[in-house]
Amino acid sequence: MLQLSGIAITGSGSAVPSVCVKNEDLSQFVETSDEWIASRTGIRQRRLAPPDQSLCSLATEASRRALDMAGVAASEVDLIILATSSPDDLFGSASQIQAALGATQAAAFDLTAACSGFVFGMVTAAQYIRTGAYQTVLLIGADVLSRWVDWTDRRTCVLFGDGAGAIVMQSNSAGDHFLGFEMRSDGTQHDCLTLAFQPTPHELMAGLTVGQGQFQPIYMNGQEVYRFVVKKVPEVIEKALFRSNLTVEQIDWLLLHQANQRILDAVAQRLGIPDHKVLSNMAQYGNTDAASIPIALDESVRSGQVKPGDVIASAGFGAGLTWGAAIFRWGR
Ligand code: ACO
Repeated sequence: MLQLSGIAITGSGSAVPSVCVKNEDLSQFVETSDEWIASRTGIRQRRLAPPDQSLCSLATEASRRALDMAGVAASEVDLIILATSSPDDLFGSASQIQAALGATQAAAFDLTAACSGFVFGMVTAAQYIRTGAYQTVLLIGADVLSRWVDWTDRRTCVLFGDGAGAIVMQSNSAGDHFLGFEMRSDGTQHDCLTLAFQPTPHELMAGLTVGQGQFQPIYMNGQEVYRFVVKKVPEVIEKALFRSNLTVEQIDWLLLHQANQRILDAVAQRLGIPDHKVLSNMAQYGNTDAASIPIALDESVRSGQVKPGDVIASAGFGAGLTWGAAIFRWGR
């Protein structure tokens, strides 16, 4: 019979661009204010990547830190999963990170599920470890959405920031710390949040036309997404907790995708989780898409807030629409 392997999350790392843009700075080119942004979202500033900073460079830096913390050499990594919606190359950017790290034994691929990408990536990584196929997986969440934001649209441009975070997930004979998960998608609501390709007909010869064009900037129906998240995210967390055989009271930390402080507060309230258990750093970074959960996790681990053995309920949500939760214990 197949022997299922235990899983441990053994290291974390993060990296953000050095350029810091405060809410007041944005009011120089769109009609907005620190008061509006902070009161509606909790965001005070964000990091934005200059043109010469690539997604791969941020992701590589975050990965090195995660591997260092785990005490794992790059050559020991079996698989690299890069959760991103803004790769440097549409064919995939994970291999460039694999090369930069010198992770010569690792297979590498991109995974796209927008702001759910990191949680979907954790679940994907866990399957490879569980079955014994791989022992060590490097999971990265990274996005540079500043490339795709319409900087004249104040409804969206104030929300996003750039960054990368990474974790190391390993097989663990001493116990299983990946406790349960739930993933969901609803493509009927896809139009609420898009970064869509817009083809224009390009005739190659009579009777043969292909579509060529560009991706359009991010569009979001904020109120629709807000309503959906506040209803659906508590449900997947409850389901993942049920699968983990845990109750809400046994959660040490709620770690949600950092989209909006009001969403964090509303989800915590619905679940009956007190404020002091809710991890939040969006005031500093805004919404960094697939990077937001691992950046917040890494900061909390390095500050000593999250301790080995703590139970973390994490959930991602966003474009697709997609949403999902993963419950895990931090550390070996
Ligand atoms: N500055 C000043 N005023 C603004 C701004 C701004 N930056 N943006 C919008 N406004 C104005 C609007 O024009 C509107 O004015 P009007 O009434 O005169 O037309 C008013 O403020 C209210 O606008 P709403 O869009 O209704 O604002 P709302 O309270 O819904 O807040 C927000 C917007 C913050 C985006 C909220 O809807 C939200 O957080 N939604 C969820 C977003 C989310 O979680 N996304 C997650 C996934 S992201 C991903 O997957 C990539």
